[in-house]
Amino acid sequence: MLTIYSRIVVPYDHSELSKKALKTAMALARQDKKIELLVVMVIQPEVTIAYQQTNQREIQREAFGKIRSSIETELSVLPNRTRTFVLEGAPAPLIVDFVKEYDGDLIVMGSRGLSGLKEVFLGSVSHYVVQKATCPVFVVK
Ligand SMILES: Nc1ncnc2c1ncn2[C@@H]1O[C@H](COP(=O)(O)OP(=O)(O)O)[C@@H](O)[C@H]1O
Ligand SMILES: [Mg+2]
Repeated sequence: MLTIYSRIVVPYDHSELSKKALKTAMALARQDKKIELLVVMVIQPEVTIAYQQTNQREIQREAFGKIRSSIETELSVLPNRTRTFVLEGAPAPLIVDFVKEYDGDLIVMGSRGLSGLKEVFLGSVSHYVVQKATCPVFVVK
C-alpha cells in the first residue's frame, strides 16, 4: 500500500511540525528503499526588509545552508535516495511547482509552521499546498 508512493516531498521550514513531518516521511521511506525523499526549504526574501542588503541575504543563506547539512546528516541513516533543496521566493507556489517539476507523488508537511498562530488549523502555506497540489498531501499535526 505505502509503496504506491515513490517520491515523497517534505517542505521544511525548521518548525517543530516540519521536523515531525520529516520524521514521518523518513518512517514511510523506511518501508521500501525504492522510495525517494526530497526535502525542500524556501527562503522567503520578503520576510525581512534587511534581506535586501547583501550581507543579510548571505547570513540567511548561510543559516539555511547549516540547516540543510544537519538534515543531510539525519537523512544519511536511510538506505533510500534522498535530496535536499534550498529555493528562494514565495514558499507556497514554489512548493507546488517544485512537486510538479520533480514528479513528487506524496507531500508530507506540517499543518502549521513558524508563525505561531495556533487558532488556525492550517497555516497559509499548508492551506495553499493542500488546495493546489497535484498529488495527495499528508498533513502532520
Ligand atoms: N518556507 C518554507 N519552506 C518550506 N516549507 C515550508 C515553508 N513554510 C512552511 N512550510 C511547510 O508548511 C507547513 C505549514 O507552515 P505554514 O503554512 O507556513 O504555517 P504558519 O502560518 O503557522 O507559519 C510547515 O510545517 C512546513 O512543512
Ligand atoms: Mg509559515
